[in-house]
Amino acid sequence: TEFISANDLASLMDVSVNEVIKVCLNMGMFVSINQRLDAEAITVIADEFGYDIEFLSAEEEETVAEIEDDEADLQPRAPIVTIMGHVDHGKTSLLDYIRSATVAKGEAGGITQHIGAYDVMTKSDKRVTFLDTPGHEAFTAMRARGAKVTDIAIIVVAADDSVMPQTREAINHAQAAGVPIVIALNKIDKPGANPDKVREELSVMNILVEEWGGKYQSQEVSAKTGAGIDDLLEKVLLEAEILELKANPDRKAVGTVIEASLDKGRGYVTTILVQTGTMEVGDIVLAGPHFGRVKAMTDHRGKKMKKAGPATPVQVLGLTGAPQAGDKIQVMDSEREARELATQRQQLAREQSMRTKKHITLDEIGRRL
Ligand code: GTP
Ligand code: MG
Repeated sequence: TEFISANDLASLMDVSVNEVIKVCLNMGMFVSINQRLDAEAITVIADEFGYDIEFLSAEEEETVAEIEDDEADLQPRAPIVTIMGHVDHGKTSLLDYIRSATVAKGEAGGITQHIGAYDVMTKSDKRVTFLDTPGHEAFTAMRARGAKVTDIAIIVVAADDSVMPQTREAINHAQAAGVPIVIALNKIDKPGANPDKVREELSVMNILVEEWGGKYQSQEVSAKTGAGIDDLLEKVLLEAEILELKANPDRKAVGTVIEASLDKGRGYVTTILVQTGTMEVGDIVLAGPHFGRVKAMTDHRGKKMKKAGPATPVQVLGLTGAPQAGDKIQVMDSEREARELATQRQQLAREQSMRTKKHITLDEIGRRL
């Protein structure tokens, strides 16, 4: 199996991809930026940079979380849609328009630096959960994570610009995760917009849009005027219908940590995406090496919630620490069990950090819940 690209590995080790390529060359390995590497290559390269790699097997990661559901217990759920693309191509603006808020304007320097999670009701009264990802090249790992928890990817390309490095990277992540892609040709209101040029560039990457006889749905949009956005949403919902997404709301919740931070007044605030089951206030949760009792839950507008079902993003108060983005969060039977597992994981992490080498944990990017 191949795990991640040379580029992803470089960003996990916090070095430039050129350094990785150079080190490979010195060892007689020819590696290109987007080339996906196997376990042996990753181990050897990481070792050169002083890192020690731990490969998590699927079994290990799914210890408690994986409970088979009876077909009869499954109910339709909302799609999770991740918005990806090159920096400044208008991802946050597009989502702002969709949910009629103004996040892009409030961001420092207009650059997204974290994953945002929002759920909206479309005009056709369907709930859709959106993840906004950063386009800046530094945030490869976050894009990979976004592609991993999603059902559908919207790839945003500014029609007055071109297919850019992070456009390609985003497409690669979506394809690696086996997620259907819908192309949004944004900024169509701009005088210099040339969507045909972008379609052409995409076709060179084997992304042939439907209008040109290909299999990829695409839509010209403007996040400024709103043109085409309803049609884009219809196309996304069409993809969602084909997927027949289902989950069991009547089991203990399992989700993924989107981000976590320490708030002076409220303690640890953890944004999670519930993927299956229903999370309720009072539940005991385990998230990475931390646990806690859910004291309160709010949606992205700050509104209090008592329950959060499948495909719902929610902010949780009450954890004993900040888990890492991408950690799995799950409801446990008892506080004792949650504490034990959290303590075990903390001990493991301590032992690992006591080893001299720096440490990276990789799991297969393509695997989803
Ligand atoms: P990162 O999150 O940093 O990767 O950027 P982003 O893709 O979220 O881009 P963002 O939404 O912050 O928009 C970048 C700039 O493009 C802002 O100045 C927006 O106002 C502008 N913009 C986005 N969409 C459109 C559009 O459809 N038309 C026009 N004219 N400008 C747009
Ligand atoms: Mg943004």
